[in-house]
Order: sequence, then C-alpha cells, then structure tokens
Amino acid sequence: MKKKADTHIPVPDPQKRGYVYIIGAGPGDPELLTIKAARVLREADVILYDDLVSSDLVAQFNARKIYTGKRKDSHHFEQDAINDEILRHARDGKIVARLKGGDPFIFGRGGEEIEVLRENGIGYEIIPGITAAHGASAYTEIPLTLRKVSSSVAFCTGHPVSKIQVPDADTLVYYMVASTVHEVLDAVALQGREDATPVAIVQNATRYNQNIITGTLGELRKGDKQVYSPALLIIGDNIRHSIEDNWYSKKKKIVIAGEDFSISNAADSVKVYFTCKREHADYTADERDEPIDLEYIDEIYFSSPSCVRDFHTAYQSLPEKIRVITVDQATQEEYEMLFAKGGK
Ligand SMILES: C[S@@+](CC[C@H](N)C(=O)[O-])C[C@H]1O[C@@H](n2cnc3c(N)ncnc32)[C@H](O)[C@@H]1O
Repeated sequence: MKKKADTHIPVPDPQKRGYVYIIGAGPGDPELLTIKAARVLREADVILYDDLVSSDLVAQFNARKIYTGKRKDSHHFEQDAINDEILRHARDGKIVARLKGGDPFIFGRGGEEIEVLRENGIGYEIIPGITAAHGASAYTEIPLTLRKVSSSVAFCTGHPVSKIQVPDADTLVYYMVASTVHEVLDAVALQGREDATPVAIVQNATRYNQNIITGTLGELRKGDKQVYSPALLIIGDNIRHSIEDNWYSKKKKIVIAGEDFSISNAADSVKVYFTCKREHADYTADERDEPIDLEYIDEIYFSSPSCVRDFHTAYQSLPEKIRVITVDQATQEEYEMLFAKGGK
C-alpha cells in the first residue's frame, strides 16, 4: 500500500533550543580530525564551516553544509553574521556543528562565539583540534621543543591588534604571516636573534600542496619570496636538518576524479578528490570547490568519461609529469580526445 503523504507542517517552538559544538577540524589533512569530532559531525543537522576547513573533510558528512568563509569571489560572512547564523539554527532546535580550521581556541575566535552562546542561553561544547603549528611540526619534521636546544615555544600572530610581539621563547611560531612575513622577521631580528637563526615558512601544512621555504633569519630578511596563505613562520635552532626531505613529501599525491576505484594504498599516497558534478544529482552549491594545484599532483584516476569532461572544463591541460589512469576503454578514449591529443 502506498504511504500517505505527510501533510504535517511543523510549528516553530520558541522553547526549543538546539545545541552547538565548536569543533576544531585540524590543519588540512582530513584524517587529523578527532574521533569525537567525527561522531558529532555525523550526528549534526547543520555544519557551518570556515575557509581553512578542507572540503574533502566536509564532504564526508550528510548534514546541511553552510560555508561561512571569507573567499573573495563568493558571498562571505562577517563574524556577527556567523554568530547570528549559529543562533538561528540553534534556536530552531538543530544540532549545530561549528567547524573551524585547526583548533578553535588558537587564533580561531572560538572564545567570541561561546560568549554569544552564553549570552543567549544556548548549550554548547568545545572539541579541540590539531592546530596548524602542531600539524606543520609533524609533517615537516620540526620538533617544536628539542632537548638541550629548545625548551619553550610561543604561538604568536603576524596580524596583531597593535604591534608584532616577540616573546622570550626558544621557538617562535607565527600564524597569519602571508602579508606580514618581513615585518615579523624584522621584529624578531630587532629583538636580538642572530642572523644565522634557522627559519622555515610552511605553506599549506598537512595538505597535498604543502610547501616549505627555508633559510636563515638574515637570508629571508633580504629575500623577497612571495608567501601564500595559509602559512606559518617557524623560527628557532630546533629547525635542524633538511626538512624539505620529510616523510610527507615522499608520499605520492593522487587526484581521484569521480568514484574511488583506485587500488592505491592510502598508506603510501595522499588522495585529493575531484567531484564530478555530472555524476552527482545531489551536488549542492554550498559545497565549496577548491581548485586543485596540479603542480603537486603525481597521478590522476578518472572513473568515467563524464568525469573526464568535468575535469577538462575545470582544467584544460595537465602537466606532463602526471600519470593518468582510467577505469575503462571509454574513459581512456575520452581522456585521449580531450587531453592527450591537445583537446577539442
Ligand atoms: C585565523 S588563523 C586560524 C588558526 C587555527 N585556529 C589553528 O589552530 O590552526 C589562520 C592562520 O592559521 C595558519 N594555518 C592554518 N592552517 C594552516 C596550514 N594548513 N598551513 C599553514 N598555516 C596554517 C595560517 O597562519 C593562517 O593564516
């Protein structure tokens, strides 16, 4: 028997209160999410996520997803609007996951968001995340403390409200340095650090496109290297050996375009997912598309001819060094027609 259509229209209940989880998503690698955060994200009704949260991570959950980041070319939320959005969903009785890059309490404005929840009598919990400094440290082999070399570490910002601070710690880690790296290096030198002090700038830490710039304080002050966000600046004698040659750099970086048919072992590779819109009727506009930097990619797996077409719409050519693997003959022919023979 056919089920009768549900004609019940829910009436908003002013007494109903939702619950908010302020969650740290970690610095980029989706596997750096905590088990507790993953459980809550599975149970959430709404996920409000920031710029630095990886879209591959968000894509794993079924909740309604709302991007609250500040990308230039899309609608973005100011902090007040984010607070209003959190309150609106909580008042509607929803379980809200407020997902932030790194840890919510390290330059994450988590403190401001809980103030608003307190003032409005909304229940909340905080789930810590791996902050960018810890991610960068592990994925570049820079121990933030090192016996007999560094016994203290300070987390600082390159975008302070007033002046750049240089605490008296052996290792200094500066967040938000993309546009202020030279000012920070000058401030550190002015405080008496020697020109020979090792410095590392870690961009996109724990992501497939992790990139490291190294040098001494003196060299980098004189240089004019462009630094792209997100980037961390680490300064101290704890940066010892050739950190570009780290365990993470040895992993193969592969793009999975479409369904994951690859046999590639997760342990020896880093996967980057490309969503083929033609294969996904439920693809929603509030899922953010992050362009893939193909310069860092070693292999691409295509799972259907339509996915090859989608990929070609986004990227008209592929760097020669990339090895291409296709699921079947039809996909191979589509790839050859669009890419290998110079495209249509
Ligand atoms: C607004 S702060 C948020 C920090 C975040 N709450 C955390 O704990 O990592 C943004 C800054 O964090 C740093 N950052 C975040 N993710 C990063 C990554 N994957 N690689 C390098 N730096 C990162 C950058 O300095 C960036 O400008």
